[in-house]
Amino acid sequence: MFDMSDSEFRLLREFIHQETGIHLPDTKRTLLSNRLRPRLKAYSMTNFRDYYVHVRALGDAGVAELADAVTTGTTEFWRFPLQMQFVSGEILPQMASRLRGRRSPDARLWSAGCSTGEEPYSLAMAVLDTVPQRLATRFRIDATDLSPRAIEKARAGRYKTSKLTGVPPPALDRYFVVEPDGSRAVSPLARALVSFRVENLQDAGRTAPASYDAILCRNVMIYFSETARRQSVTDLFGALRPGGWLMLGPSEMILEPPPGLRHVAPSVYQKTQP
Ligand SMILES: C[S@@+](CC[C@H](N)C(=O)[O-])C[C@H]1O[C@@H](n2cnc3c(N)ncnc32)[C@H](O)[C@@H]1O
Repeated sequence: MFDMSDSEFRLLREFIHQETGIHLPDTKRTLLSNRLRPRLKAYSMTNFRDYYVHVRALGDAGVAELADAVTTGTTEFWRFPLQMQFVSGEILPQMASRLRGRRSPDARLWSAGCSTGEEPYSLAMAVLDTVPQRLATRFRIDATDLSPRAIEKARAGRYKTSKLTGVPPPALDRYFVVEPDGSRAVSPLARALVSFRVENLQDAGRTAPASYDAILCRNVMIYFSETARRQSVTDLFGALRPGGWLMLGPSEMILEPPPGLRHVAPSVYQKTQP
């Protein structure tokens, strides 16, 4: 069995950071080599330098392959329930009132780093439960992740019952369909609100400015370097409408929020000015 040398680790770490923002500390060398070894075997390679050259040449597909190896997609329905209450109690009603204005553009939410779909589907179910039906059709939820494997699973929208413990019982009855194998599929009504796509958060600067009412980017930037985190916060801030909300994971906070971004609830920030 071959090991990853210092120089091989540095090459791969630098490439991963440059492409994804994810910083791997020295302590992650064994983890990285263990996660990548099956890939080397699949390519009949015997050292990590050849693998590095190969993934670079693959472009986006190489980045996706590395992302699948280094990211963790841990997620759940209704994760961080306190924040979900804030979404249903404050954010969605305010978005619905905005839609009542004449010629107001449709309401848009973004689950950035959505993993296997539990977060955006929870949002869709919260919209359907909170907003009057005629307005709910004007809500759109974009759900993006770097990992093609995660997005494929999210699009399938099928979950084992053991994954549904966080779902409130009324939502379980209303928005899931029992499949022949006993798993549950997200109902067409909830699916219709969500569009999934593979997208790197490092490209968020290209997102149309001021286009989202609310962005959830939870438990994604914890793996980023400080530089990548700052850049992503700036990009996400730019993607929010004035008055829009940015939600992070419970252990995440923005140390120096850009001017115009106000802390309003646990790990929730609101854009007060353009
Ligand atoms: C721990 S999961 C969080 C999922 C969900 N947001 C939640 O809180 O339950 C982190 C996700 O971030 C994604 N991710 C990591 N770096 C990313 C990047 N640069 N661009 C887009 N997604 C990224 C990973 O693929 C993974 O699915």
